[in-house]
Amino acid sequence: MSFVKISEAIEKKKGPVKVRGWVYRIRKLKDKIFIVLRDSSEVIQCVIKDEEMVKTADKLLTESSIEIEGEIYAEPRAPTKYEIDVKKLIVVHASEDFPINKDQSVEFLADNRHLWLRSRKMTSILKIRSTVLSAMREHWAKKGFYEYHSPIFMGMQCEGGSTLFKVDYYGKPVYLSQTWQLHAEPAIFALEKIFTIQPAFRAEKSKTSRHLSELWMAEMEVAWEGFDYLQDDAEEMIKHVVKKVLDNNKNDLEILERDIKKLEPIVKKSFPRITYDNALKILAEHRMKVEWGKDLRTNEEDKLSELYDTPIIVTKYPKIVKAFYMREDPKNPKVVLGFDVIAPEHYGEIVGASERETDINKLKENLKEQGEDAKKYEFYFDTRRYGSVPHGGYGAGVERIISWICGLDNIKDAIAFPRTMTRWTP
Ligand code: 4AD
Repeated sequence: MSFVKISEAIEKKKGPVKVRGWVYRIRKLKDKIFIVLRDSSEVIQCVIKDEEMVKTADKLLTESSIEIEGEIYAEPRAPTKYEIDVKKLIVVHASEDFPINKDQSVEFLADNRHLWLRSRKMTSILKIRSTVLSAMREHWAKKGFYEYHSPIFMGMQCEGGSTLFKVDYYGKPVYLSQTWQLHAEPAIFALEKIFTIQPAFRAEKSKTSRHLSELWMAEMEVAWEGFDYLQDDAEEMIKHVVKKVLDNNKNDLEILERDIKKLEPIVKKSFPRITYDNALKILAEHRMKVEWGKDLRTNEEDKLSELYDTPIIVTKYPKIVKAFYMREDPKNPKVVLGFDVIAPEHYGEIVGASERETDINKLKENLKEQGEDAKKYEFYFDTRRYGSVPHGGYGAGVERIISWICGLDNIKDAIAFPRTMTRWTP
């Protein structure tokens, strides 16, 4: 008999099965032992009654790795409603006393992250993460986008100097990439439609539940397209991701106690598209006054998110609060053809996007205003010198999206080993 996953054994419902995994829980009675066995797919209760086997199992601690052969049958009182009557038990490794048990502090779990990954909560999040990433790839691949990668070591900033990580590069200062963008735009002249999912680095100096220092960003860049296409694509991408998670990870969402009623509207409804000016009006109606020209802060984004049950697309922010590369609105040079997508339920900005400025002089002016040396960007200006075309793109925060879909309290749980201002180990 060959091994099957616990979920496959449960699907079989009855008869002989062979499974392997880790002791999730063990309850030792006088003449029998109950083990809840865990593998990547599920948990199942196993009962050991044979005298010799009871002696062997009696020595086992949680997280011991074992192989089991036995008969599976329905058992309504068991955690997953099935039980295996164990006929053969092989101990692969008798675990030492596992340091994690109930009610441990957040800090202790973070110090033992390498072990906490085995929890049902983290296992479910990591499965959803895998679905999210493959759904993103699927979305762009279906539309004829090529997967393309940019360098991580960078000679210049793209998203402002305050969040740059400086590293020693053969004795010279370089930065870790904040975004693929500066090296993505040159590639659209070869491939036209590209995307990536890769790490990005931001030296975030504040400790929030939404910021990581090392995050994964899903980014796309497209030639010949503009503002409306980008909004449509961001909306389609998010819808596809949520749909895939609802299709593939129902069980995981249940383990995370995520209310899926909150996710269902995302797939069905259109996302409201609101200009920054209108967002300010809406906020004023809710007694939140924002001075024109100021970026929306967390509490203002949160207020807006409370008013809708889908993500919202906020467009045309003031030029002064946005990145140097965003295209000026030809109808109003004070604002840019850029947008943010704000997630529901206080999960904040999940996408940052824009059509790109193609006027080299404007790009230079914008950089100068930020105190940047425009000379470093000559290679980038070349994209506007040789066959310039309208184009644009966006970046989606992978962990922000996962955090929202899973309903997490903190973005740190959306990635296996989070890196923040105060945490870089294990
Ligand atoms: O809005 P941002 O800064 O956009 C860019 O970097 C563009 N160059 C992307 C592009 O057009 N190709 O970042 C994109 C998204 C944000 O909307 C947010 O979801 C996420 O990345 N993000 C972070 N997520 C977690 N921790 C951080 N420190 C983040 N910074 C940005």
